[in-house]
Amino acid sequence: MSRRETKEMKPTSLDELAKPFLQLQTFADVKMPEEAEEPILHPAVRAAVFEWITEIRAVKELEAMGVKPRRSALFYGPPGTGKTTLAHHIAARLGVPLVSVNSEQLIDSSLGGSQRNVAKLFNVLDMVNGKCVMLLDEIDSIGSKRSADDQAGAREMNSVLTTLLRKVESFTGIMIGATNRNDALDPALWRRFGLQLSVDLPSDDERYAIMRRYIAPLAAPDEDLDLLVDLTRGASPALLRATMEGIKRTLVIGPRIGRDVSNAAAVFASVIASNQPHPDIPSPRLWTGAYGEEISAFTWPWVKESKGSRSA
Ligand SMILES: Nc1ncnc2c1ncn2[C@@H]1O[C@H](COP(=O)(O)OP(=O)(O)OP(=O)(O)O)[C@@H](O)[C@H]1O
Ligand SMILES: [Mg+2]
Repeated sequence: MSRRETKEMKPTSLDELAKPFLQLQTFADVKMPEEAEEPILHPAVRAAVFEWITEIRAVKELEAMGVKPRRSALFYGPPGTGKTTLAHHIAARLGVPLVSVNSEQLIDSSLGGSQRNVAKLFNVLDMVNGKCVMLLDEIDSIGSKRSADDQAGAREMNSVLTTLLRKVESFTGIMIGATNRNDALDPALWRRFGLQLSVDLPSDDERYAIMRRYIAPLAAPDEDLDLLVDLTRGASPALLRATMEGIKRTLVIGPRIGRDVSNAAAVFASVIASNQPHPDIPSPRLWTGAYGEEISAFTWPWVKESKGSRSA
């Protein structure tokens, strides 16, 4: 990024920028750039995100050519695959806060309540002059395919959706919609987004990298991780994170509560018992109990990585 572009995207003070959003506390929260982390994604998704960020930064050059950068994206995929994390990361890369709107909470059952919320939201967005990324999380809760029964609730949602879409067209910032129920999303809403990105369950390479990231500062030997890559096929990054963090927690706390942590299979069994995948998704092998002997053969306990002790 050139110096000039950095200056354009960076507001004078991030804290000042965050203040107006306090008015939206009932349905939105603000995430600052410094708290963002980069999700580990499939290379094709990473490339698409990189291209989009570059495009947003090149707004002037693109406009000189008579084209505009795409200003909105829809992220869809199973729960816990990093959609919210990715939106936050993109905002951080652009040097602005992420304003995460909980679509379900935006809907207010009182008469005209939702419309008032939408008006309030865009009022605040106007105040910060588009210097933020807006995430409409769980967008399916307002943008579901129209239901046949035209009840008051459905009517309210449709009118909110219509207003939102109109506002979004004139919004000068970046807008990201996220859903894990893409099958339920209204096709008209789907088409409104400049790009649609599938944030899917991680492949073998990504699961390896994700487990490595979240087991740090412990270093699991590659042979052990390779087995776990096999046993966790179908697991979400969120579940992998919870499992790796559970292992570290057990290794620290276990001995204090008289639990024997010298056996890897026993440690895994206790962690897995309290970190279950959602019942609607097929359980990865690690959660079906179809392991045991192999985990007992781990180089155990995993210890802290000492500098220079392992190859990358
Ligand atoms: N691809 C990833 N790489 C690394 N960590 C990830 C990834 N995806 C998710 N995580 C971790 O899992 C947790 C949940 O992620 P996140 O909330 O971004 O998922 P999501 O796709 O938005 O889920 P939902 O559909 O339930 O809203 C976060 O703590 C995040 O750090
Ligand atoms: Mg999310």
